[in-house]
Amino acid sequence: MPMLLPYVPRMGPLIILFGISLSIVISVSYIYSVQVGSGLSVVARNALDAESFAGRIPHECVDPYKIPGYMYTAEGKEETRWIPFYPSFFDLPDLPETEYPHPEDRGDILLDNRTVDDAILNTAPVPWFRMLQQYYNYLKRVNETNESSQPEPELTESDEFIRDHMSWVKNRRILLMGDSLDRNQLQYLCEDLGLQFVEEGGKHLTKQTTAYCHVPHVNITFVQWHIAGMYTYRPDWWWMPMKVVSFEDRYKEIFEPVSMPRVIGASGSGPDLILLQSGLWDQVAFLSGAHNQRMQALPEEERTRFVIGRPKEPLTIDQLRFVSKRFIKFVEFMKDVFGDNVPMMYRSLTVRKEGKDEDAGILSIDRMLRSLVTTRFDMEIFDWSRLAYGAVHEYKDFIHFTRGRMSLLFSDMLLHYLFRASGGVEVEGVVKKWPQEVTVNNLKANWNMCHDYLVDTTNR
Ligand SMILES: *[C@@H]1O[C@H](CO)[C@@H](O)[C@H](O)[C@H]1NC(C)=O
Ligand SMILES: *[C@@H]1O[C@H](CO)[C@@H](O)[C@H](O)[C@H]1NC(C)=O
Ligand SMILES: *[C@@H]1O[C@H](CO)[C@@H](O)[C@H](O)[C@H]1NC(C)=O
Ligand SMILES: *[C@@H]1O[C@H](CO)[C@@H](O)[C@H](O)[C@H]1NC(C)=O
Repeated sequence: MPMLLPYVPRMGPLIILFGISLSIVISVSYIYSVQVGSGLSVVARNALDAESFAGRIPHECVDPYKIPGYMYTAEGKEETRWIPFYPSFFDLPDLPETEYPHPEDRGDILLDNRTVDDAILNTAPVPWFRMLQQYYNYLKRVNETNESSQPEPELTESDEFIRDHMSWVKNRRILLMGDSLDRNQLQYLCEDLGLQFVEEGGKHLTKQTTAYCHVPHVNITFVQWHIAGMYTYRPDWWWMPMKVVSFEDRYKEIFEPVSMPRVIGASGSGPDLILLQSGLWDQVAFLSGAHNQRMQALPEEERTRFVIGRPKEPLTIDQLRFVSKRFIKFVEFMKDVFGDNVPMMYRSLTVRKEGKDEDAGILSIDRMLRSLVTTRFDMEIFDWSRLAYGAVHEYKDFIHFTRGRMSLLFSDMLLHYLFRASGGVEVEGVVKKWPQEVTVNNLKANWNMCHDYLVDTTNR
């Protein structure tokens, strides 16, 4: 299959150095090398082979969030970064401590400095959400001075950079179909921008209907549609206040009437990026059904209410077959609604804070869905669960993350994929190509540039 890729000229990149003062306390310096001019041409795939990653993927197509990495955390949560272990890491010079035999006067090998050298830190993916914070603050300031007819504000170098490079993020719509984990992430994203997260649902309003975060001036909207799992109806024993269960009914009664206009982007037919998943609720539905079955066999006075409890077993193979068939319908349904041009990703399922044996149910669904979405739908995985695995200090309860390090990374990651869908190319933390105004809305073409390299089941 001939694969066409953008050729990024190796001309001395103009290095732009600027400091971003994150609205909060510290000021961090990022280095971006910006490609000069727009001399993009298209070359055949083998022209890039010499520069491929691990002999397989052109550098321009490497997904930093799919590479095993190091979770860099510092005291300030804003400094959190995901640092992929690129080959360049293994090419770093030897540390003096690796010398063998160990010189007697060396002392013990401790290597306990937690700071990461800039040369390594700068290979981390661009923290796009933090760039969005800057951009929003800049536009807001311009708007405020303009409204009050004050003279235009003095622009710093970093303001100018942001103004000139971030407009690709304007007029965008991002849709997450999932559960409370997705809702929480969007709520944190919203709060990190100082904005109001709005829940809506018409006459069906509960926390589990739809919610959104609209960023004025930037005109980007993040929307969540709460999916109640893959069940086809609402049984009597349903354990939550949700009145409508199947995705078909939820679409008809809630999403379409209440939220549809919020998710339609510039294409006029759908959002610019979709994440979807199901799992937690499927697992609980089966448990709740089984509980009800057991209770029916008991005299009335001995029956107990369902509590979610601690499932220690995987789903049965028939339960997984059921979920898989329903999930196929779910994806096909959404493709009918939004067309086939929107990049759609499966958001991998995270596990509980504690009790590895209680993850069996969720892992069985996640493994099945990883295989399903990649083999049946040629879909890429938004592999949040692999980044989040083991981050026990970042949970606020047994299953949800708190607003903090992991939520910033989630937001960065979300915008990373929007950057790619907009035609941007980033290699080892350096922007090689900024989205161009004329192609910023060619979602499918932009996405497909690297898509074939990135459909990967990545087992866990
Ligand atoms: C720790 O590492 C950083 C980055 O390499 C360096 O700037 C700093 O001086 C080191 N601190 C100590 C105590 O060696
Ligand atoms: C400032 O923002 C408000 C709210 O989005 C908008 O109504 C208004 O037109 C903006 N003013 C200018 C001068 O852009
Ligand atoms: C200020 O507002 C006016 C009128 O709405 C507009 O033409 C101008 O471009 C705005 N200035 C900036 C810096 O956005
Ligand atoms: C905001 O974005 C939406 C979706 O792209 C677009 O339809 C709308 O015209 C934009 N609004 C403004 C004021 O640009």
